[in-house]
Amino acid sequence: DKNGFPHFMLKEIFEQPRSILDTFRGRVAKDNSEIVLGGLYRVIDDLVQAKRILIVACGTSWHAGQVGEYMIEDLARIPVEVEYGSEFRYRNPVITKDDFVIAISQSGETADTLAAIRMAKEAGARVLGICNVVGSSIPRETDAGVYTHAGPEIGVASTKAFTAQVTVLAMIAMVLGNKRGELSTDDYNELIHDLTEVPAKIEKILQQNEEIKAIAEIYKEATNAIYLGRGYLFPVALEGALKLKEISYIHAEGYPAAEMKHGPIALIDENMPVIVIATKDKSYDKIVSNIQEVKARNGKVIAVVTEGDDTIRNMADHVMEVPESTEMLSALTTVVPLQLLSYHIAVMRGCNVDQPRNLAKSVTVE
Ligand code: F6R
Repeated sequence: DKNGFPHFMLKEIFEQPRSILDTFRGRVAKDNSEIVLGGLYRVIDDLVQAKRILIVACGTSWHAGQVGEYMIEDLARIPVEVEYGSEFRYRNPVITKDDFVIAISQSGETADTLAAIRMAKEAGARVLGICNVVGSSIPRETDAGVYTHAGPEIGVASTKAFTAQVTVLAMIAMVLGNKRGELSTDDYNELIHDLTEVPAKIEKILQQNEEIKAIAEIYKEATNAIYLGRGYLFPVALEGALKLKEISYIHAEGYPAAEMKHGPIALIDENMPVIVIATKDKSYDKIVSNIQEVKARNGKVIAVVTEGDDTIRNMADHVMEVPESTEMLSALTTVVPLQLLSYHIAVMRGCNVDQPRNLAKSVTVE
């Protein structure tokens, strides 16, 4: 049931205020004093003492893992590596019982992620799953798990599952940071409060749907696109590019903005749309310079900015605004306009957005 929306993907994009709320509700204390993740109970000591955390996933779930890496390293000071299930399982990785593995999968059935879990368990590591489909294969094979409560995701392009995964990773990072003494109780409580404000912020972003559709109209014939972000917003650039390529079949690449001058800048001309995620955080001045570099080469800049940012508005060709957010949670808001932009471009190109060619919702082949 598309609930009045023309496609499941659009319905699922619009469900995000609710699916994020469902993912943290019941886990956050009413006074924001703590987060209780029942699924962590059995493994919390191993997790707190882990020498290293390995995150394994594929596709969009791997992008959520990248955000998780930054969060966990930032708040809990445990080294994290993010691995593609397929690369990890075939390359003779170093893994020991001191490692803790987090496997992320919407479907819980991705063959390469499942195989990576089995390898890690054989090497003696504990494994935690972050999955959306209850009772699927991955939750059955992991030592413990935290479900994302995003509800069924029907569109092949993952949207609400991604933001639910990032929500769970944020909660895990906060709990770990606090238990390891790296995150003060005041900061912990403030971050919990910030998380509870995310659904209302996404609600505001969704109100710009028509403006975003107008931007899509201008770029629907593009053959290429570049997405740039720094820090927490680099994985968002990767995810924005994946969303565009998988549903509109436009070639798109995500890059850490500073890498542009090491190659991709050669691609920039008046036909190249460059989507820059440029909210006000600690790399703001740097990303503003990156926008200037693109404009100096006549590239078209579509920027995701913090509400009221006139500096970038005056430089960019178009802006999509998001409410101010703490840096650690900024992926949750900034990804939403990118989902909408890809959706509208794909619809305008006549693509089958819910079932793009050559793709399956769960990849159970290796
Ligand atoms: C992209 C997409 C895929 C999946 C990937 C992993 O929109 O949906 O990249 O994210 O196939 O799937 P799960 O999360 O089910 O393991």
